[in-house]
Amino acid sequence: MEPKTGKAGDWRNYERVLLPKVKDLHLLEVYEANGGYKALREILTNDKWDPTAVTNEVKKSGLKGRGGAGFPTGLKWSFMPPINPDIPRYLCCNGDESEPGTFKDRQLLEYNPHAVFEGMLIASYAMSLAGSYLYIRGEYADWITHMEGELKKAYAKGYIGKDIMGSGFSTELYIHKGAGAYICGEESSLMNSLEGKRAYPRVKPPFPAQKGIWGYPTTINNVETLAAVPEIINRGGEWFAGIGAPTHAGPVLYGISGHVNRPGVYEYPTGMLISDLIYEVAGGIRGGKKLKALVPGGSSTPVLRADMIDGVTMDADSLREAGSMMGTSGMLVMDEDTDMVSFLRRITHFYHHESCGQCTPCREGTGWLENIVTRIDEGEGNLRDLDLLIDLCSEMEGRTVCALADAAAWPVRYTIDRFRDEFEAKCKASLVPSGVELTEATA
Ligand SMILES: Cc1cc2nc3c(=O)[nH]c(=O)nc-3n(C[C@H](O)[C@H](O)[C@H](O)COP(=O)(O)O)c2cc1C
Ligand code: SF4
Repeated sequence: MEPKTGKAGDWRNYERVLLPKVKDLHLLEVYEANGGYKALREILTNDKWDPTAVTNEVKKSGLKGRGGAGFPTGLKWSFMPPINPDIPRYLCCNGDESEPGTFKDRQLLEYNPHAVFEGMLIASYAMSLAGSYLYIRGEYADWITHMEGELKKAYAKGYIGKDIMGSGFSTELYIHKGAGAYICGEESSLMNSLEGKRAYPRVKPPFPAQKGIWGYPTTINNVETLAAVPEIINRGGEWFAGIGAPTHAGPVLYGISGHVNRPGVYEYPTGMLISDLIYEVAGGIRGGKKLKALVPGGSSTPVLRADMIDGVTMDADSLREAGSMMGTSGMLVMDEDTDMVSFLRRITHFYHHESCGQCTPCREGTGWLENIVTRIDEGEGNLRDLDLLIDLCSEMEGRTVCALADAAAWPVRYTIDRFRDEFEAKCKASLVPSGVELTEATA
């Protein structure tokens, strides 16, 4: 049989670009010494780069958003309306990073913050923006303080502010400390939070490009998405498009957590075989145990059983075919001892706690999901509860202001679907009075 190689090519010799091996890269002087702000200088001083040319280069790269939905970045930028000098426009860089299993933006904020700033500035030029906001999860307090210091240095060097590098282009960049809830990462909620309001998601339309922060046209992109942009300008869109999976190109940060020997954030091309990531990159399953289940892209993406990952690669197409999604590429790995009912109980608790309460199906539904899964886990459930849970999911999916309700329903729907025997076993056991042995008749 042919060995499976995935679409990532020669990943063992892959050279990191988002988190390169450079000591003290978080400092402006080190970033500059390693080619930092070269891409910004290039687009601002070389006439070939008008704003449309920059957007086109990003389109050519095939870069897709790394915040979860995988929307094409260049296309998103081109949704901004035609320039009107009386109407300012903005960018929000989303660093709220609160989804369980997702911890990759943190590495960029800590180790390569100027790549994030530079990506934001290039995006600001491409979309002719008055300013941009970097919204960072509040718990990342140390990195926020550090980044504020580096931001001041970048302002002092003339990379941000009025007439950048004598080009005539001016834009501002602000860092904003997040308000401490998962929902603040939803793009419209993030804008409300930035405006000092309660972080309720907004009804769409109008979409942010029509009416965003302060009512003005706005684009929202993830930290990792924007950090990829300087190298797209430096090395070209074609270079980026040639990395990893052809339909979901580029380098990506895989956050691998759970029952592996070497959990962590690893930069590799998209299109890596899941098995290579687990067994080669993350050192295999802890204690020599067997793999039982994997959540490939943050807690909302559908769980896959071990027997479903053979030949599956980390890109949107392959994961869709396998029955899941790329999400944030935050992989939760579970070994053979994992109790899937208990896993789901933990996940439902999270979404119940984080629902903002604005829509009834989500406010009530997340609570009922948690209650019922808890009841099953504690041996008080019955088989009808499984159908009830699936009904509840159907009442929640696609019926709310934002996608948190879907994110809460999917883990329930797919964990029951793919591990039904475990749920049934707990339900059946609960029907049997204690002391009675489970037989065909009592089950
Ligand atoms: C409940 C919820 C939480 C979210 N949290 C984040 C987050 O922490 N970071 C993020 O980049 N995107 C998050 N998103 C997705 C954003 O709404 C948005 O799609 C993303 O920031 C766009 O960036 P991208 O196009 O670069 O991926 C969240 C979405 C939902 C529904
Ligand atoms: S779906 Fe949930 S989190 Fe989203 S707006 Fe409605 S209640 Fe809030």
